[in-house]
Amino acid sequence: MKGWMGKFRVLFLLSSIALFLSGCGKDNLTALVPKGYGAEVSMNLIILTTVVMVLVFLAVIIAFVIVLIRFRQKKGEEDYIPKQVEGNQTLETVWTVIPIILVIIMAVPTVIATFDLADTSEASEHINVNVTGNQYWWHFEYEDEGVQTSQDLYVPEGERVYLNMISNDVTHSFWVPTISGKMDVNPENVNTLYIEAYEEGVYWGKCAEFCGPSHSLMDFKVIVVSPEEYDQWIADMSSVDPDEVPQDAVAAEGKELFEEKSCMGCHAIGSSPGQVGPNLTNFGNRTTIAGILETDKENLVDWIMDPESIKPGNLMTGKYPELSEDEAEKIAEYLLQMKDTEITPESAGN
Ligand code: CUA
Repeated sequence: MKGWMGKFRVLFLLSSIALFLSGCGKDNLTALVPKGYGAEVSMNLIILTTVVMVLVFLAVIIAFVIVLIRFRQKKGEEDYIPKQVEGNQTLETVWTVIPIILVIIMAVPTVIATFDLADTSEASEHINVNVTGNQYWWHFEYEDEGVQTSQDLYVPEGERVYLNMISNDVTHSFWVPTISGKMDVNPENVNTLYIEAYEEGVYWGKCAEFCGPSHSLMDFKVIVVSPEEYDQWIADMSSVDPDEVPQDAVAAEGKELFEEKSCMGCHAIGSSPGQVGPNLTNFGNRTTIAGILETDKENLVDWIMDPESIKPGNLMTGKYPELSEDEAEKIAEYLLQMKDTEITPESAGN
């Protein structure tokens, strides 16, 4: 490369990348616009450490430039050797003490935040949800309230919710960047993370630990509603009757197929526990199918017919007899009409 482009190509490359990557953010999937307690605490630490590091960077660059200009070799000084300052006690003390002070400035708030975010002593006074990570979906159990669901975690705005998390298979990591920090979800032990969301809305969650071929597709949502809406949602969810026959004839046929074709062997509807597959209570109300597809009939039929092509390595593939397109459509109809609650993701301020 010739001319200015050649000289500045590294700068050009870096600024292009920065410009390109700055387009990657999503409002509901960013740690940089915190809308929850854990995310806010983390953001404050990010700002603090960034400010400290930028100040250090500037101090080093300024000192470097001053030295470069001031102590340049001048004409007639070709043989001149500057005064040697190694072992200068003042300098050594200064550049030992300043970094120690900087580390303390960053470490103290970090340690305080770590203990604060790990404090579960008040868990019994708040809402508790048992979270189970599975390849590649999330189960949510509101044990005291008798509600089971998956993929969409409803929480009330401004209230602390304690998540007691364990994995059914391998290690996953629960992360809703806009609301809280990450927490590993292990098969061996229960880890607790509390979240407190400030604003109603639908926030994206990600699995943040490589857990298999569909790790990057292990998405979920945290749906933050007003405390009143939350109570209503709990009431609606806990009153779902899994035996209720839909009024629509096609959906009613779908329900029969759902039972006949052994879907029920894995998927519970209503508050009965059991989590071989995602609980499907009020499935028609879910933000997504399998965490990644828009909730509509076509996508649901595609998913039922060939889940492997959508989420490789999932445990649903091959667990039920082959279905005709017509049968899959009926089952889809049954699942999608099941939305017996007024509290929807759309009502969550989005
Ligand atoms: Cu679960 Cu990555």
